[in-house]
Amino acid sequence: MNNTNFDPRQFRQALGAFTTGVTIVTTRGADGQDYGLTANSFNSVSIDPPMVLWSLNKDSTSAHAFTASEYFAVHILATDQEHLSNMFAKRGVDKFAGLTTGRGPDGIPLLEGCSARFQCRTTYQYEGGDHVILVGEVLAFDRFDTPPLVFHGGGYRRLMQPAPAVDNSVYGENWLGFLLGRAYYQMQLPIRQQLKTMGMSDLDFELLGMLSFGEGKTLTQLRRLFEFVGKHLPREHLDLWVDKGLLTLEASDEESERIYFTESGRQLTIQWLAFAKAAEMSALESLDYEEAQQLKLLIGRVIQHTGETLPEHWRKENIWQDNNLWQQPG
Ligand SMILES: Cc1cc2nc3c(=O)[nH]c(=O)nc-3n(C[C@H](O)[C@H](O)[C@H](O)COP(=O)(O)O)c2cc1C
Repeated sequence: MNNTNFDPRQFRQALGAFTTGVTIVTTRGADGQDYGLTANSFNSVSIDPPMVLWSLNKDSTSAHAFTASEYFAVHILATDQEHLSNMFAKRGVDKFAGLTTGRGPDGIPLLEGCSARFQCRTTYQYEGGDHVILVGEVLAFDRFDTPPLVFHGGGYRRLMQPAPAVDNSVYGENWLGFLLGRAYYQMQLPIRQQLKTMGMSDLDFELLGMLSFGEGKTLTQLRRLFEFVGKHLPREHLDLWVDKGLLTLEASDEESERIYFTESGRQLTIQWLAFAKAAEMSALESLDYEEAQQLKLLIGRVIQHTGETLPEHWRKENIWQDNNLWQQPG
């Protein structure tokens, strides 16, 4: 393919193979108005003297403001600023509405919450086809410790560190079920050990977990939840908890008996929850915040996909109740 018959869409798609961050470049026009646009053509040029560049579409409604202004600011957007990127890529809207802005040289607007920010003086402008290449000397910069937003193939992405090579001798055949099972087993081990020192069994561990989803269930409902983890809850076990003063059964006949916490049962479950949350924190120690969110999102997608034929009583809405102790069913 030579460049006289390029399909612009395909050319754009091929360029999209180059992964970038996302920036918002701002300036102040001669009319005293703030201007800004989303740009991923930003790049570093020189360390000494410190210089950067980006290219500006001549069609942009801000084109004149940028080419006439002496200064511009580049904001490298953080992961949670996708909405700002979309706003600054729109034409004919008040992009700065509701934003708190600081001020740089000549009053150029400075945005908050980004990963890094560069205040620049325009030193060169080059012709670049339908774009103008703006080169700026960096006068000041700020770096914030927030993960950056990523752009690839026409869509937003998140940074994820490459996983270390999987050692099959450790992880069996690299089967997802084994990985999930092993991760779950290892993660909950410290909770079970702690409960053991308090004289509680594996069945108690499950019972505390099930009841933390919400009280007021019947024994039949609770037993169905136990089936979910392949266990059976004997009636005598429940009676033991009642004898210990941790649960009460409220009703006239056994069929409609509902299970409630006593105050000490509730306290014990809250303690169990604290163990569970501590176990989660320690399990996620090797991941940064973004990776942990990604992991949960991806597992969530597997759950959604594999749960289409889940029996009614296993569905989230039939397990979680308003009186659950986790606060956010999520
Ligand atoms: C991720 C992304 C990257 C962009 N990169 C550039 C760029 O480098 N240069 C540019 O001129 N426009 C770029 N645009 C398009 C402009 O943001 C958009 O056309 C412009 O802001 C439209 O509004 P305006 O006419 O008010 O400038 C990009 C848009 C997106 C969503």
